[in-house]
Amino acid sequence: MKVDFIVLAAGKGKRMGQGDLPKVLLPLAGRPIAQHLLDTISSMKEAAVRMVVGYQASKVKSSLKVKRNTKWVIQKNQLGTAHAVKQAVPLLRKGSIAVVLYGDVPLVSLKTIKSLIRVTTSKSIGVLTFQTENPKGYGRIIRDNNKNIATIIEEKDASLAEKAIKEVNSGIISIHSSMLGPLLKKINNKNAAKEYYLTDIVSTALKEGISSIPLRLDNGNELLGANTPLELHNLERIYQTNLANKLINGGIGVADSNRIDIRGSLNAGKGSFIDINNIFEGEVEIGKRVEIGPNCFIKNSKIMEGAIIKPNTVIEDSIVGPNSKVGPFARIRGGTKLDASTELGNFVEANRSQVGALTKAKHLAYLGDTTTGASVNIGAGTITCNYDGKNKNKTKLEDGVFVGSNTSIVAPVTLSQGSYTGAGSVITKNVPRDSLAIGRAKQTNIKRKRN
Ligand code: UD1
Ligand code: CA
Repeated sequence: MKVDFIVLAAGKGKRMGQGDLPKVLLPLAGRPIAQHLLDTISSMKEAAVRMVVGYQASKVKSSLKVKRNTKWVIQKNQLGTAHAVKQAVPLLRKGSIAVVLYGDVPLVSLKTIKSLIRVTTSKSIGVLTFQTENPKGYGRIIRDNNKNIATIIEEKDASLAEKAIKEVNSGIISIHSSMLGPLLKKINNKNAAKEYYLTDIVSTALKEGISSIPLRLDNGNELLGANTPLELHNLERIYQTNLANKLINGGIGVADSNRIDIRGSLNAGKGSFIDINNIFEGEVEIGKRVEIGPNCFIKNSKIMEGAIIKPNTVIEDSIVGPNSKVGPFARIRGGTKLDASTELGNFVEANRSQVGALTKAKHLAYLGDTTTGASVNIGAGTITCNYDGKNKNKTKLEDGVFVGSNTSIVAPVTLSQGSYTGAGSVITKNVPRDSLAIGRAKQTNIKRKRN
């Protein structure tokens, strides 16, 4: 069965009141609202996608990632959902089933879409509906004696009795594409909004002897729309709770499914534990038995097996090696790679650095453009002075180096294997193997004069 998706994304989203940004580009879990839909349907490889855009069309086009079998359709004026679908009709493939999706109904699952396609025949339209305690804003479903849909009444046109109906229209329909053009032609805009409603396709089809078969979900969470800021907020929470539940079911401990945010993808190994208030952005991978303390921000990084990330740590674009300990209050960034069993403790920042196995910097240090060997000990207050105002220079600390507390290491410089520095030194020259470098003013004690 050939499937052509028609995704409606031409509106501005006035009710959202978000300024100029088209509604379908507002972020939901870090991705544009409409991107969720596109990602969901992209796994139906043979399906084609027709994206109907209008308001800020070029911005929408450049902001969404689409598959090759996508064609863009411009709806110049937003005259209603039926009018929007009509623009895409000439681009449908012969003999296909057209599935209309709404750019602002982003969480629908592939499973549900496939079930809707299954109830669609050459003599009937499939309409996805759901039951809700809060039907406000949605089209109400009026059933006929056969339990099919007789008509859909929009909120603006509904009587009080109709408003009380709790079965609502998701907006998503599925129909043989050859039927679509002729039916759309018969839809007018004589209604409260003076718009061409796609929902009128139901009563129009019925006059032609074509019935509309409802596929009703009792839990409509995946069919909720994002029309107002609060609705978008609710979608975000539903989405995040679903992701948290998936982790929990996969054997990952999550302290509170309401206090974790995944804005991208998080792959976590079994036996790991994620404490409260953690944010994961982009692609994050966590190995087995990793512990993430509260209040961490982790972006595009890999935390390997057995590592412990202590509270309030920020890790971006970096790799934390197995059994390493990072934080509390550490910041790791810029492609930094920590080898196995390293320890970067409180108020330690590492940027563009490679840290060898068993190396420790447990307090208050800055490692920038630094490569360390194994088992290096970096004392509290150590700073690599990597920037001379023009260039970023490199520091090399070879295996077994011991850097005394409060050392300033002025790069470019190498401390060779087994060397060490006296506390408070300013190191400007290379230090040979197994040598002590002291670069500080000698202490003088001057006797205090008493009158
Ligand atoms: C629509 C349905 C309503 C349903 C609800 C589900 C109609 C008339 N109403 O109402 O029955 O319960 O969705 O969420 O279809 N769009 C265009 N061009 C236009 C108008 C809209 O592309 O001319 C796009 C919008 O950008 C949006 C989608 O179509 O992504 C739906 O439009 P919207 O105005 O949000 O419809 P609702 O009032 O939510
Ligand atoms: Ca809507």
